[in-house]
Amino acid sequence: MRAGVFDSGVGGLSVLKSLINAKLFEEIIYYGDTARVPYGVKDKQTIIKFSLQALDFFAPHQIDILIVACNTVSAYALDTMRSHAKIPIIGVIEPGVLALKNQIADTDSETLIIATKATIASGEYETRLRDIGFWNLKSLATGLFVPIVEEGIFEGKVLESAFEYYFHNIKTPPKAVILGCTHFPLISKALDEYFKHQSLLIHSGEAIVEYLEKNLHLKSQHPLKSLKFYSSDNTSELVKVANKWL
Ligand code: DGL
Repeated sequence: MRAGVFDSGVGGLSVLKSLINAKLFEEIIYYGDTARVPYGVKDKQTIIKFSLQALDFFAPHQIDILIVACNTVSAYALDTMRSHAKIPIIGVIEPGVLALKNQIADTDSETLIIATKATIASGEYETRLRDIGFWNLKSLATGLFVPIVEEGIFEGKVLESAFEYYFHNIKTPPKAVILGCTHFPLISKALDEYFKHQSLLIHSGEAIVEYLEKNLHLKSQHPLKSLKFYSSDNTSELVKVANKWL
């Protein structure tokens, strides 16, 4: 099976890593729209337009399934993309919400959603969580984490200052934190320490693997034969980051 993985940039490599480890696909084509990242500060129509252009990119590659690693695209463009495609298109928000539900039985549990400005503004995580009974929700747009991770900073003073800036009102660690952005799994160790190892961190990559296994009945039995990288800007830069992160 040949899968496409689409992200606004390099962040989707965090999801790609989980997909590679899970051995669900023989071939993977990763496309990052690095020329136009970040999507998380753009408006809905722009995000939809760019996402449809990504579909055009994948058309000649004849993929069997498209994984949308980007939370921002998952929040705004999935339905429109699906209406323009014949293959299954799977985003990260539904899997993330289901992963939380599977791991936390008590729907009173305090849940913190951190994501880009656009993802938070869409209310997509909140709506889906409320639909399954979770009501004790706090959403925070923590966009600064994106350039910090892009800079290769996964720990230390800069990150700690950003934690203080965003989380100073949070007095006790929430029961769960949804890492609602591709970049955030890369700082999960620092987040885990910040929240005193008391919060369950929901990672899009792990969540989507679980979702694909349970809902699409994909099995972990395919050694990866081919992995190709494409981007709208400088692909060698993307490959450099991939070599570091994967
Ligand atoms: N990939 C985006 C997301 O997961 C983060 C980077 C961006 O803003 O484009 O929401």
